[in-house]
Amino acid sequence: MRHFIDTQDFSKAELLDLIQLIHLTKDADKQGALPPLLSGTSLGMIFEEPSTRTRVSFEVAMTKLGGHALYLRPGEIHLGQRESTKDTAKVISRMVNAIEARTLSHKTVLELARHATVPVINGLTDYNHPTQVICDVFTMLEHKLPGKLLEDLNVVFIGDTTNVCSSLMLICTQLGMRFTQAAPRKYQAPESLQEIARENCKLSGGTLVVTDDPVAAVSDADFIYTDLWWWVGQEAEIPERKAAFMPNFQVNLALFEKAPRHAKMMHCLPASRGVEATDEVLDHPRSIIYDQSENRLHTEKAILIKFVYPRVSRPPHTLRDWHAGRIQAFLGESLRLTFDPS
Ligand code: CP
Repeated sequence: MRHFIDTQDFSKAELLDLIQLIHLTKDADKQGALPPLLSGTSLGMIFEEPSTRTRVSFEVAMTKLGGHALYLRPGEIHLGQRESTKDTAKVISRMVNAIEARTLSHKTVLELARHATVPVINGLTDYNHPTQVICDVFTMLEHKLPGKLLEDLNVVFIGDTTNVCSSLMLICTQLGMRFTQAAPRKYQAPESLQEIARENCKLSGGTLVVTDDPVAAVSDADFIYTDLWWWVGQEAEIPERKAAFMPNFQVNLALFEKAPRHAKMMHCLPASRGVEATDEVLDHPRSIIYDQSENRLHTEKAILIKFVYPRVSRPPHTLRDWHAGRIQAFLGESLRLTFDPS
């Protein structure tokens, strides 16, 4: 059984297929004609951290597809406190058709997947964010210059090697695109990650550039992307990080105007407005941040269809009718019997 934990687990052709499925589900939804392909199914959503986009998009996606989603957060389930990840995975798997998990540690989502008997979808860990970046590539295809191919696109990420940056570096190089990270040396992608991306490039024909020159980096950008400068648990580093990134690595109008006139502004959100990016660029006519957010919904629908739909059994109506009759007959019997606890 396959899980959706890391884009590296999928071939370029499989990722492109999934992107095509996002397109189909968006199209169907926009026409109000999304088929309820997941009718009667349930998604367990484990969130060890808060979320707006991931939570809402998965929950709404399940509803639109005719299924149901359960929001399971720490303190409300036993995971990690009174119950092992293994037992949680095994128990939830007996009751739902898929598990979406946002976990503090990547190891936890891997452990869930190891023991789950239903597909596990990674909703962000300290290492990566695959649902976000497949959505981002789809959004880039919607907003690229006409005539440009996917392989022609240059995605320039300005800032820290966040989970989104890491995932974007990998998916872009898998798909044969050009990916540039501009960051102070200390915050650039570690060699181990760059090595995976370079291997991707060998297969796909993509290009990886890592630089500490943001102005040169944006000069031929199709998409400029940024993310938070610090993450949960890095609060003590805020002064050091601010000093390292500000002002050169802030995406502000001065930097944005160094990019080609067609370049679009991207951010996975949530944003710290005025920190990694200013209002002027986040709200710029060429900002596509809210299209990215909306596309999370269409992406989750596609992922859920891809991983859950083929596993749903669809017995003939005659079988359902037979069971209904059997249960109704039993209830009729029960009604005639008086309750006898002895
Ligand atoms: N981009 C993203 O994953 O947003 P949330 O943290 O709101 O889910």
